[in-house]
Amino acid sequence: MDLSEELFNEAKKISAKSYSPYSNFPVGACCLFKDGSRYLGVNVENVSYGLTLCAERNALSSAITNGQEDSLIAIAIYSPKQKMCIPCGACLQWIAEFGSKEGVKIILENMDGKVQEYSLSDFLPHSFKIKL
Ligand code: THU
Repeated sequence: MDLSEELFNEAKKISAKSYSPYSNFPVGACCLFKDGSRYLGVNVENVSYGLTLCAERNALSSAITNGQEDSLIAIAIYSPKQKMCIPCGACLQWIAEFGSKEGVKIILENMDGKVQEYSLSDFLPHSFKIKL
C-alpha cells in the first residue's frame, strides 16, 4: 500500500467517529506533516447547525494543539456519502495556512473509486494573504 492509500484509509477509518446526526454526512480527515506525524479529525455538528466543525479543520487543530510546527505535506479526506469529497472553501484556506500551495497534496477517492492525489492549487489557485 502506498502512502496516499494509507492516509486515505486512516481518514476512512476515523470517519466512523463523525458526529453528524443532522446532515448524516460523515467526514474523516488525516493530515501528514513533514516530520511524519499524522493527525485525525472528524466533522462535529451541533443542533445550532452553523456551529458545525469540519473534519479537516479538526485534524489541523489537533496538529497545532499537539505542538506541530512543521509544514503540512498532505491531507486525505473521506466521506462514505460522496466520492471526491473536496474540502470546503474555508478548509482550503486553513490547509493553505500550513503548507505551500503546490506542495500540499489533497488525497481523495476519485469518481472511479480510486485513491488519487491532487494538489491544493487544483482547488485553491489563489488564497487570502496579508503581505507584511
Ligand atoms: N464537512 C466537512 O467535514 N468538511 C468539508 O470540507 C465540508 C463539509 C461537513 C460539515 C457537515 O457536518 C457535513 O460535512 C455536511 O455539510
